[in-house]
Amino acid sequence: MKAKIGITEQNTEAVAEQLAKLLADEFLLYTKTRNAHWNVTGDNFHANHIFFEEQYRQLDELIDSVAERMRKIGHFAPATMKIYLELTHLTEYSERTNDGLGFMKDLLTDHESIIEFLRGNITPFAEKYKDYGTSDFITGLMETHEEMAWMIRSYFR
Ligand SMILES: [Fe+2]
Repeated sequence: MKAKIGITEQNTEAVAEQLAKLLADEFLLYTKTRNAHWNVTGDNFHANHIFFEEQYRQLDELIDSVAERMRKIGHFAPATMKIYLELTHLTEYSERTNDGLGFMKDLLTDHESIIEFLRGNITPFAEKYKDYGTSDFITGLMETHEEMAWMIRSYFR
């Protein structure tokens, strides 16, 4: 059944298209963070292992909230790896060093890229597409990524 929530279908479609890209980015970042959790080696192994676990758990919740936001505005959420790899702005690891800071640097770049993407969509979602709910939702999401990015950035002086 169609969602009758006071936003045109054309507008919810445009918003859902951006949310699908975001979902793909979150999924990739989640996988990359799990990789870091599993494969990190070196000094501070245990602390890093736990740190990455905290982060992937947070990302797991974000993924769910993005997909469910798509359902709330009347669209289906993409849920295959193939589609995620087609939609994502992020890249998978090209080289493997397995050291904590190497993983952190890469993950930080991805968080910052998601933050920029979200920031760029807050105003259009509200003003262009009249979807104030999703605009508010991604504002909160951006703040969560800002916090996660800060946690990672703090490992660097
Ligand atoms: Fe684990």
